[in-house]
Amino acid sequence: MNRIADHCKSSLLWLLTLFFTLTLSTSLNAAPQKTEIPMPGPWGDDFSETITDPEQVGDTASTQRFRQQQMQMLSAYYRSLEQALRYSADHHGQLENLASNFAHRAQQLPDWFRERTPAHGEESGALERVWEAPERFQQHMEQFRERAADLADRVERSSDAVQDEAVEEKLNRVRHQCLACHQEFRHR
Ligand code: HEC
Repeated sequence: MNRIADHCKSSLLWLLTLFFTLTLSTSLNAAPQKTEIPMPGPWGDDFSETITDPEQVGDTASTQRFRQQQMQMLSAYYRSLEQALRYSADHHGQLENLASNFAHRAQQLPDWFRERTPAHGEESGALERVWEAPERFQQHMEQFRERAADLADRVERSSDAVQDEAVEEKLNRVRHQCLACHQEFRHR
């Protein structure tokens, strides 16, 4: 009787060992677990996330955020133009397209500042002055729009924009206008 029980026990032990060995080896060989990436989410070190629940974001914050994203887009256009003009022979073909898109964006500036949405306290953002001195701000926007259009026009008419000093000069004039407006109307 005892011998039968012993036999059962050892068979059970053997089965258990087999079971664990199999489970362990399959889990070791298994493909790494899938990672779930929630969207929207970050895609790089320098990307500010937009994962806040839309229900929790007020109109002011959302107008400011949208405006800031548009400014970053403007900045990316400017930097791409600069890059294509000065450094990357590979991208010379895109100059005209970049410059005309940039000029188009420059016309949209007034839309981003329609609502009175200044930054408060130490927050970086638009100063109250944007809405308190609207005529002055308007002048800056117009100057900027004109300079961007002027740049696009010159790039389009130039037979070799890269060698054309007027293009370089017009790009600089655009940059100075970005800075001039920031100096008066933006808090960092
Ligand atoms: C007519 C005024 C004006 C002009 C022209 C202008 N900006 Fe701005 N910019 C602002 C103001 C005001 C803010 C602050 C907006 C806010 O945070 O609500 C700003 C913010 C920014 C920001 C910060 C965005 C963020 O994420 O907080 C960048 C980058 C920027 N501008 C780049 C540029 C570049 C590059 C140009 C020119 C190619 C330019 N801007 C032209 C007024 C201007």
